[in-house]
Amino acid sequence: MSIIQFPKDFLWGAATAAYQVEGAWNEGGRGLSIWDTYAHTPGNIRNGDNGNIACDSYHRYEEDIAYMKELGLQTYRFSISWSRISPDGTGELNEEGLNYYHRLVDKLLENGIEPFCTLYHWDLPQALQDAGGWKNRETIDAFVGYAGTMFKEFQGKIKYWTTFNEPWCVSFKAHYIGDLAPGEKNLQSALDVAHHLMIAHGRTVQLFRQLGISGQVGYAPNVSWREPFSSKQEDIDACRRRIGWMVEWFLDPIFKGAYPEFMIKAFEAMGAKVQIQQGDMEAIKQPIDFLGINYYTGSLGRYKKDNGLFEIEDIDEGYERTDFNWPIYPSGLYKVLVHIADRYGSIPVYITENGACYDDEPVEGKIQDAKRIEYLRKHLTQLNRAMEAGVPVKGYIAWSLLDNFEWADGYSRRFGLIHVDFNSLIRTPKESFFWYEKVIGNGWLEV
Ligand code: BGC
Repeated sequence: MSIIQFPKDFLWGAATAAYQVEGAWNEGGRGLSIWDTYAHTPGNIRNGDNGNIACDSYHRYEEDIAYMKELGLQTYRFSISWSRISPDGTGELNEEGLNYYHRLVDKLLENGIEPFCTLYHWDLPQALQDAGGWKNRETIDAFVGYAGTMFKEFQGKIKYWTTFNEPWCVSFKAHYIGDLAPGEKNLQSALDVAHHLMIAHGRTVQLFRQLGISGQVGYAPNVSWREPFSSKQEDIDACRRRIGWMVEWFLDPIFKGAYPEFMIKAFEAMGAKVQIQQGDMEAIKQPIDFLGINYYTGSLGRYKKDNGLFEIEDIDEGYERTDFNWPIYPSGLYKVLVHIADRYGSIPVYITENGACYDDEPVEGKIQDAKRIEYLRKHLTQLNRAMEAGVPVKGYIAWSLLDNFEWADGYSRRFGLIHVDFNSLIRTPKESFFWYEKVIGNGWLEV
């Protein structure tokens, strides 16, 4: 048994996202988002679930914050529902929506919990989707307008701002793989969306600076890792493309002001081309204060001709898997963090999401989720390894505070430190909650 010590000023948190926890989909003047439409369309979500009620955090946020306090959270990462603020995405503001987030943020601050706010966690106002969504460059202006409103409104209250959560999911998963809203399957659309998201991100960062907002602004891509199966060049190249798809495509433009050539070629081989207009790359390349990293899984990979977008096959080394069937691959977190630091330099990092899906149910009122504890312990160990290698990691935010609406999987998948009974909405802290409470309280971890 040994001990891993984290720095005194390390920020410990847990996260959720608006559509996954709030519910109150048609209350308080909220407009429709693409997730309402997608989830209300039969066949899209497992068991026909939707986020109409979710964890009902819109009404129960005080109870949630009481649990955060008990857990000892130093920061709570939540997202704002754009259509609650602005039902059509532009135009009239909805005071009731703004008031909800003021109540939430005030309560967090009262309890000594730092709000860590994500502006966009996938729920585009439906009215903007009707005009073309993220494929339409005008959505960029709408987003920057919304972001500016939020910066001014919460100036002095919210110090940590994230523009986009997981732009890879918003573009490639939602527009090419097609299993997230709006559910399109077109590679060119995905590339267009990815490019527009990055411009929106860059322009939002510019605005943050112009307005002189105090605090920090960052970006939270989801990353993964593929370790080459052999030292053959074709395996190395296949893994490079797979990582390049999630990491370089979304970070090179921000830090280097250009898309990586090897990925431009890989996309062109598939008949898709990024459409860059004058001034786009300058807009994207804005210094950010921190990089948020969401990490869940990875594996070994090797070249396989004609296999998927990048001709790569994942190799199963007999990994343990979560109940989502995702391989548990903690060393990938270390490797991807070192890779990012090598490529882009020493930018402060927050792990904005990391966590595991295990569907444990209460037994005599207790939820013994030992596997989740093991998952978190292993990832924190690798995180510490990256810190020892010089990566400036400033905090760790577990996904998720609560079991919640897991997108296309509805309520069938549980990631929470707190169990939620989706009939009664009763919350029950799991074993992992009490374990994490100790880690936060001590600032160290037993391994
Ligand atoms: C997302 C979360 C999601 C989690 C688990 C991330 O991709 O940001 O919203 O619930 O992973 O799938």
